[in-house]
Amino acid sequence: MNEIKLASLVNEMTLDEKIAQLTQFATPFFKGASDGGQITGPMADMGVTDEMIRNTGSVLGASGAKEVKNIQRTHMEENRLNIPLLVMSDIVHGYKTIFPVPLAIGCSWDLGLAEKSAEIAAKEASVSGVHVTFAPMVDLVRDPRWGRVMESTGEDPHLNSEFARAFVRGFQGNDLTNEVDRVAACVKHFAAYGAPEGGRDYNTVDVSERELRENYLPAYQAALDEGCEMVMTAFNTVFGIPATGNKMLMRSILRKEMGFDGVLISDWGAVKEMIPHGIAEDEKEAALKALTAGVDIEMMTATYVKYLKALVEEGSLEESLIDEAVLRILTLKEKLGLFENPFRGADEELEKEIVMSAAHREAAKELAAKSAVLLKNEGILPLKKDQKVALIGPFAESGDILGPWSWLGSKEDAVTLKEGILQKIDPSQLIVSKGSDIEAITEEQIQEAIGAAKDADVIVLALGEDSDMSGEAGCRADIKLLPAQLELIQRIKKLGKPTAAVLFNGRPLDLHGVYDQTDAVLEAWYPGTEGGAAVADLLYGDSNPSGRLTMSFPYSAGQIPVYYNHFNTGRPKGAPDAQERYVSQYLDIPNCPLFPFGFGLSYTEFTYSSMKLSNKTITRDESLEISVTVTNSGEVSGDEVVQLYVRDVSGEVVRPLKELKDFVKISLAPGETKEVTFSLTEEQLRYYHSDLTLSSDPGTFIAYVGGHSQEVMEKSFTLVE
Ligand code: GLC
Repeated sequence: MNEIKLASLVNEMTLDEKIAQLTQFATPFFKGASDGGQITGPMADMGVTDEMIRNTGSVLGASGAKEVKNIQRTHMEENRLNIPLLVMSDIVHGYKTIFPVPLAIGCSWDLGLAEKSAEIAAKEASVSGVHVTFAPMVDLVRDPRWGRVMESTGEDPHLNSEFARAFVRGFQGNDLTNEVDRVAACVKHFAAYGAPEGGRDYNTVDVSERELRENYLPAYQAALDEGCEMVMTAFNTVFGIPATGNKMLMRSILRKEMGFDGVLISDWGAVKEMIPHGIAEDEKEAALKALTAGVDIEMMTATYVKYLKALVEEGSLEESLIDEAVLRILTLKEKLGLFENPFRGADEELEKEIVMSAAHREAAKELAAKSAVLLKNEGILPLKKDQKVALIGPFAESGDILGPWSWLGSKEDAVTLKEGILQKIDPSQLIVSKGSDIEAITEEQIQEAIGAAKDADVIVLALGEDSDMSGEAGCRADIKLLPAQLELIQRIKKLGKPTAAVLFNGRPLDLHGVYDQTDAVLEAWYPGTEGGAAVADLLYGDSNPSGRLTMSFPYSAGQIPVYYNHFNTGRPKGAPDAQERYVSQYLDIPNCPLFPFGFGLSYTEFTYSSMKLSNKTITRDESLEISVTVTNSGEVSGDEVVQLYVRDVSGEVVRPLKELKDFVKISLAPGETKEVTFSLTEEQLRYYHSDLTLSSDPGTFIAYVGGHSQEVMEKSFTLVE
């Protein structure tokens, strides 16, 4: 159906029908849903009628080919103009085959595998009837107290942008109309949702426009440049106005400046939340502000269907604004081919073959192995296959390793760490004991664990956070490992045996009581369906750890926010002429994080040498070649993430000490050497000036290359007019 036909369809629709297209309800509202039926309880309290449901434009959270077909078929039979529903769901890091959480995927620094994970998620979702996924989440994060850091790829705008592109490519492919095994992506949460004060979800965000443009907008822009079809609003305020009612943010910046002409959906309930935010007296005013700001779909509240008609009839709202929103939604339905085939890719037979296929599980295992980060190893890893192992901890046999956004994955399908290790060694060599619960411990549990460990050659502690301790509304003020598990570590340490800690969690933790009490620490995050198998591969050296942190691990919560691309301040600690006391420092802890951005160990060693620049100066139309030699000086093959950072020594505004500009992950056999060359252009030296123009300044820059942000070689160069 082309544009003219779509426009004429809009003209055929009544005002009620148009308004209902702008509404999204969850499956229980729909008769065709297995959990659907009469509108009762909270739904009735919302003032929603059958008429509104018949004309609704999209459904949230439906999945399963049979289920979706039933919902779609019933809906279209009842809809006067046979307009199909958009089926939208949260497929964030896998549909049923669950991949590592995005923060883990970010630590893989592997854009190809990230794209592949999204492609596989799309294939499983589309064959199960899903049309749109609410992903990628690209919110930049600097505060591990916030539960949703697990859903982002970290603290760097460049890295987040590269992953945003990779995820959108994987979800959407090249041609959504003909590739029915892909889904439309919805980048979220616009904007700066990752910067809530106190790290508390839904809390106030107050960043300057320069900071917003410099650090928070690039990844959304990258997703849009990759063709992302939808954007979701953030719950928080931006410049003092909730994003969902923020006309400047949505119409001026997102649509006009960033060039977004797709569908903008509110987050769950965010339209009506303008009332508690205090910028809308009632639902009617909330509806007016959201529609005026350009929000096309109201998710899970009913202010549009209840008040937009009256607003039009009383002259407070131009009907043309509703028409343009409806047209954007119908255009997306057209792009997805739903007018020709409302069932799109849904196929019960194919579903059985594709979902959770061996190939998909293998891909999830590969990515999990590349996402884990080895933080410490005093020579006890990799384990030897003839060792007797005591596997102790609440995650020893836990399937709760899928992470908080894995609502379609099942813990029963997950390969636990015990199962993973038993794929490596004989059962007679392994003894397992829980040792403690996540948050509680008994003397009996400890004694049993100590008994299990007494004949072991090595102890593996499987520790972490319950998956509902991160994710949405999963915020923690104390980011240490839970006290019960810290006690378990203390008691096990007394045995004086080699002990490795494996962490299953969704945020950078304050690892005091863990890294200083054990001989090795492997951060496994929530590694997904194949997590236990991947971690076992890493523990036994069948995979060599290659993950590198994309979010700093604070020395303690008192340091937050701590991130690598910070400013120098006027009194930097450690400067040559720095005074003892009157510098920017704490009296009780260091300034540096416990583990910095880019950090991660391997079972081999990489040495850097011969950093060279192609020139000492570059002009605006030249590129600078920056090369370095990397050698695997260890005994086993390994992957290294070579990172390029740049510092603008003096700007019109203060500039970060380092900014990631490029990276490459290389594989090196023992003794092998490779020369890595980056090409840097003037465009990569641009930044937002105080007048918000984006440009570079001539002057001195320092290029850094190395294996992480604190360990680099450096050379200066000058940008000349
Ligand atoms: C949630 C989340 C959002 C998600 C939406 C639909 O509140 O903030 O990320 O996509 O609701 O489930």
